[in-house]
Amino acid sequence: MTAPESARIRPMRADDVETCEQISSRAFHELDLRTFQRGWPDPCPRPPHRAELWQTRTRHLLTTDPGGCWVAEADGEVAGFATSLVRELMWILASYAVRPGLQGRGLGRGLLDAALHHGRGCLRGMLNASDDPQALRRYALAGFRLQPQLLFHGRIDRAVLPVVRHVRDGTPGDRDLLDSLDRRTRGAAHGPDHDVLIQPGASELRLLVTDRPTGSGYAYVNTSGVPILLAAGNRKAATALTWEALAASDPDAPIEMGHVSPANDWAVDLAMAARLGVYSRGFLALRRMKEPAPYIPHPTLL
Ligand SMILES: CC(C)(COP(=O)(O)OP(=O)(O)OC[C@H]1O[C@@H](n2cnc3c(N)ncnc32)[C@H](O)[C@@H]1OP(=O)(O)O)[C@@H](O)C(=O)NCCC(=O)NCCS
Repeated sequence: MTAPESARIRPMRADDVETCEQISSRAFHELDLRTFQRGWPDPCPRPPHRAELWQTRTRHLLTTDPGGCWVAEADGEVAGFATSLVRELMWILASYAVRPGLQGRGLGRGLLDAALHHGRGCLRGMLNASDDPQALRRYALAGFRLQPQLLFHGRIDRAVLPVVRHVRDGTPGDRDLLDSLDRRTRGAAHGPDHDVLIQPGASELRLLVTDRPTGSGYAYVNTSGVPILLAAGNRKAATALTWEALAASDPDAPIEMGHVSPANDWAVDLAMAARLGVYSRGFLALRRMKEPAPYIPHPTLL
């Protein structure tokens, strides 16, 4: 099938953000229903507070990377989008979706080409890929290597929670430490993205830090007690941060910790100790770089 004749790719504007969130929410929910596997958390539509966070992050990217954010229009309506960012010499695809019903007609290709152009001077590239074969084809043809990622799911056995020392809440004064851990693990700092990760009201995340002569690291932890971005100097620091995060999880609710790539076997050891189920879900797509470790990439800001 070919793209609608009226299709065009143009820069995203602030007044497109709400529509793009709706497209993203629908496209990913339909994908979840299509690809659901036994053991995965049940697919559910994006709740309103997460939709708001999505919009806040996208407005942040429109400010830092206006040249990385694009929409596809068909018949005068927004039909898809791609948002991307450049941090130091790293290009990252943050989010990418085409309205269900218009997929598979070439809109996604035009969007990805426009977003990749934003990273043309970059040495490295990374993105979190869904399980959509259409997306995987686009990434592989753009030169990305696909690494399957693990998902841990289940209830934490409270009896196995160890006593963790030397992990504290982070402060704005830790910014240089965070940036240097990012450079060491993934080759580029998050820089301005810490503003949106930690900003009160715009984020639901808690920052944990450990900084010892024997190892340092940090983790942004969600309200379920799961690290959704972690960088550490060694596996001991990564493990301590993750245990400290999980200790705050609800004992009666299952947790879901995803985006664990194969080089992060410290996390598999921890999942075994916590008696969590291990599943495969999604891919880490990398271009001209090795797998970051010890590292858990943020789903969109990586
Ligand atoms: C990923 C996505 C944005 C791509 O947009 P799109 O408009 O569908 O993309 P295109 O039509 O340009 O490209 C899709 C490619 O997959 C191919 N394709 C379609 N069905 C396929 C299948 N079942 N298996 C493999 N390839 C398939 C198409 O032929 C096309 O390749 P070609 O251009 O070389 O022929 C869109 O499909 C989408 O929104 N998916 C759900 C959300 C998602 O997964 N987003 C990516 C997040 S990482």
